[in-house]
Amino acid sequence: MDRILITGGSRLQGTVRVSGAKNAALPILASTILGGGECRVTNVPAVVDVVTMGKLLGMLGASVKIEGNRAAVGVEHVHSTEAPYDLVRTMRASVLVLGPLVARWGEATVSLPGGCAIGTRPVNLHLAGLAKLGAEVAIEHGYIRAKATRLRGARIALDTPTVTGTENLMMAACLAEGTTVIENAAKEPEISDLASFLVKRGAKIFGAGTDLITVEGVSALRGADHEVIPDRIEAGTYLAAGAITGGDVCVEGCRPEHLEAVIVKLREAGAEVTEKKESIRLKAPRRPKAADVKTFVHPGFPTDMQAQIMALLCVAEGTSVITETVFESRFIHVPELRRMGADIKVDGNHAVVNGSSHLTGAPVMASDLRASAGLILAGLAAEGITEVSRVYHLDRGYERIEQKLRGLGASVNRVHGTAKGAAGAAAGIPS
Ligand code: EPZ
Repeated sequence: MDRILITGGSRLQGTVRVSGAKNAALPILASTILGGGECRVTNVPAVVDVVTMGKLLGMLGASVKIEGNRAAVGVEHVHSTEAPYDLVRTMRASVLVLGPLVARWGEATVSLPGGCAIGTRPVNLHLAGLAKLGAEVAIEHGYIRAKATRLRGARIALDTPTVTGTENLMMAACLAEGTTVIENAAKEPEISDLASFLVKRGAKIFGAGTDLITVEGVSALRGADHEVIPDRIEAGTYLAAGAITGGDVCVEGCRPEHLEAVIVKLREAGAEVTEKKESIRLKAPRRPKAADVKTFVHPGFPTDMQAQIMALLCVAEGTSVITETVFESRFIHVPELRRMGADIKVDGNHAVVNGSSHLTGAPVMASDLRASAGLILAGLAAEGITEVSRVYHLDRGYERIEQKLRGLGASVNRVHGTAKGAAGAAAGIPS
């Protein structure tokens, strides 16, 4: 398995361009199932999850061409309506084909995604919403089996503003008979991007981006072209990289309005942040200041930036309290940061971070996509070499992260396969 080696201490400087948003590209690609006609999607991030979604669509019978940051998908017909366990277990977002398959083809058999490192990740709200739309939904042998002759519009009140749940139900409602209202809908920018793509294809969707989404069902959707919005979490990650190294970083091709809560916290931690229409520049003090952070659904502080801001606060002056309100166990990166000298105490969904003047490089293990990013950021600030293993987590959602960080002056390299761990060797630890 690949490892990433970081030699800390470089102050990051320069400009980095973000890729398209993984969490917009995935539902947009899944939504191609809803209609015939070719969909040409640009600014698609070249990440593993997009390749996986392309494979899934191909298995269903779609014609899929993904090259670089462009995808062309046509779903004139399907020869399967099943998303198998072997694929779904590698990417939970596969569940996004559920709503489109039932809406257009009247049936779907999708493996239950199962939990992951950050939580149990239930999909009960997806299923309850589909049942409200008139689908017969059953769980058998670890699979969701859903069918409906034709979905009927309904009023759906979500207990929790689930992001992919909102997306699944909004997509299904596009082809339902009558009007659907989704209350307590998630408001993430990725949902608005999905809606704008669906509207280009003839869907009638109102209120995406608010907590009340209304969908008037139509009989069919056509193909359309679409450019995916920039990845706000990738942008936030590079801003945090600038902040943790006392650097001066400009992130280009992003939407500052998608990152307001993150910008507020970076300013509170002492950074000078300048926003332009499609770029954000961050100038950081040598050492950040402590700040309390509470993750929340959009437009609150994104849970997908929690590990990254924790890494920053590990070297801040003072004590910070981080509260994770979205997922029940999203502190897996804490023991790994402790191995680097961080002083963090976890109590339930709170983490108390006593900032220390420096971290030391160490061999650490990634556990999920965003925890991996947090460990890399810590490595950028640590003395010596940090070796992050299991970087396949990282490759799911960050396009060319080593190259982008090197472009900012970081000393970051990928070691392929089983080469002896340099950090472990440096620390006299047998590999
Ligand atoms: C999406 O996951 C993102 N993934 C996640 O990003 C992100 O962390 C999450 O939203 C929160 O912002 C994609 O968009 C592909 P949720 P999702 O349903 O939709 C509970 C990344 O790193 N819930 O909004 O699965 C759930 O347990 C990934 O890119 C139910 O109880 O998250 C959680 O506590 C990680 N029942 C909360 O809602 C349900 O049916 C939020 O989950 C669904 C969710």
